[in-house]
Amino acid sequence: MTMNHPVINHNKPWIKLIDVAEVKQGASRFNYADKACFVVRDGEAFQVFDSICPHKAVNMPCDAIEGMTLVCPMHSWRFNLETGECLENGNFTPLTRIKHKVEGGVLYLSV
Ligand code: FES
Repeated sequence: MTMNHPVINHNKPWIKLIDVAEVKQGASRFNYADKACFVVRDGEAFQVFDSICPHKAVNMPCDAIEGMTLVCPMHSWRFNLETGECLENGNFTPLTRIKHKVEGGVLYLSV
């Protein structure tokens, strides 16, 4: 994890997102509560990013996923889904990571 990534972690109780058996390899979008996140699976390793664009807070939809790139529909900023980094020129804010864990075959979020 890159140290300068914002991370959502309010030390709240873990909430179940989904059984890992239901998460495909690569990137997927999931809803939880009234929010959403992008889950990136590489084998048994997972990364979870908030679906809110760090530019102007647009909630990026499922079809923003283009392979391992996330393309915001509002201003077309692109994000690397392997790292969360913004791919535009300049020092732009990366995607926000969401603290997560896998336990008993379940992916949990701390949000
Ligand atoms: S709101 Fe996402 S690129 Fe502007």
